[in-house]
Amino acid sequence: MKLLNKMLRNSIIILLVLGVVSCKNSSLSKKEKLEYSNKGKEIAQASFKELSGKLMEQMQLGGIEKAIPFCNIEALPLTKEMSEKYNVEIKRTSNKLRNSRNRATDRELEVIQIFEKLMTENERLSPIVELNNNSQKHFYAPIIIKANCLVCHGKVKETVTIKTDSIIKSLYPNDEAIGYNEGDLRGIWSITFKN
Ligand code: HEC
Repeated sequence: MKLLNKMLRNSIIILLVLGVVSCKNSSLSKKEKLEYSNKGKEIAQASFKELSGKLMEQMQLGGIEKAIPFCNIEALPLTKEMSEKYNVEIKRTSNKLRNSRNRATDRELEVIQIFEKLMTENERLSPIVELNNNSQKHFYAPIIIKANCLVCHGKVKETVTIKTDSIIKSLYPNDEAIGYNEGDLRGIWSITFKN
């Protein structure tokens, strides 16, 4: 009985190992994955710094009333500028969108689900690097809600004032990106490297 158990366990382990090795992204070597994971992290961090730096500047100048229209006008052009600087395509996306121009692809929605599942299992989230359908290297990393995001993405009447909510609604009538708590998964960075 013991032997049988052991054999069973070993064959499960072998199957698992085979499964991992033969998964569809095997065409990227471990070295490449690490390299593009590091590059992706650097670009995501720099883009975050750029966006949040400018956002904080606006908040100081004119409060949330000024910062929201700023995001409305500047978030996408700033992301585009960063894309050009790094010769990649940078996108911020979510399963609960504020701006519908940031809509997720099917694969991006799957990646969001993968990160969400890992979070419910208390696993650490790390970036995913894989080849996309055009054989381009593609980097995905989680975007987590921090305390200072809550003035615009938290719960109405708790961290989002009624006034802020009405400014958001006037610019984004279909806004879904509200009601978050600190530590929630807000969305992902999705970065495509050009071949
Ligand atoms: C001053 C208000 C404000 C603050 C603070 C803020 N956001 Fe946003 N956020 C916005 C607006 C407005 C948009 C829509 C931008 C656009 O039109 O492209 C947005 C869009 C996003 C998007 C793109 C996806 C989508 O739904 O369109 C992500 C991701 C995001 N915010 C994450 C964050 C995170 C994380 C923080 C905190 C580090 C944060 N935001 C802080 C107002 C804010």
